[in-house]
Amino acid sequence: MEEKEISQAVIGRLPRYFRYLGELRDEGTERVSSQELSDIMQVTASQIRQDLNNFGGFGQQGYGYNVEFLYEEIGKILGLDRKYDLIIIGAGNLGQALANYMNFERRGFLFRGIFDNNPVLYGKKIRGIEVQSMECMEQYVLDNHIDIAVLTIPKSEAAEVAEKLIRCGIKGIWNFAHLDLKVPEGVQVENVHLSDSLMKLSYNISRFQNEK
Ligand code: NAI
Repeated sequence: MEEKEISQAVIGRLPRYFRYLGELRDEGTERVSSQELSDIMQVTASQIRQDLNNFGGFGQQGYGYNVEFLYEEIGKILGLDRKYDLIIIGAGNLGQALANYMNFERRGFLFRGIFDNNPVLYGKKIRGIEVQSMECMEQYVLDNHIDIAVLTIPKSEAAEVAEKLIRCGIKGIWNFAHLDLKVPEGVQVENVHLSDSLMKLSYNISRFQNEK
């Protein structure tokens, strides 16, 4: 496939295509038109065609898209055709909830370890994996070639822990601490703020009420 720069907006929409196509595939649907995709995804058919054209366009006039093929190709673009070894730093409420959510494994994100700096938690098993001390973290990342670290620790701790991870060669940080982490080139970070989505919801509720 031809390599070209794809906008972040398009990349941001790909997981949604992937999710819907996965559902169609699981239902046994073999092909789908951009209009049908548009109806289920509530995105215009022309937006779908434009987005998918970025990758060479997978559709055929009069046929639509082959669901299995498109699902696989978008998976490859998203880097989901490989496995990632992942650790969680911070075994509190959020860290444990994420560790217990099995679906990430289905997508190839393998939960390998969980670390905390609270001795009370050391040895506690979360989905069969013991919480380890932060003192073991760096060596563990190096020895096990960990790709991704999930940060579920307080904001005040995030920068220092991220620095340690980067020194050990971590490739990506999925950051839930309320701080937009800055990382050197070559390390990828995804800052997640669930409250952003909640604020969007509150905006839409107030806008709807004001229009009435
Ligand atoms: P929690 O207090 O239950 O868990 C935090 C854990 O981090 C504790 O077990 C604590 O011992 C550990 N910890 C603290 N400093 C550490 C360090 N330097 N190294 C290793 N472990 C350390 O808190 P909860 O509810 O799990 O939330 C975790 C963080 O995520 C909080 O900062 C919270 O604000 C944030 N959060 C972010 C969300 C988002 O959408 N981005 C949503 C919910 C929480």
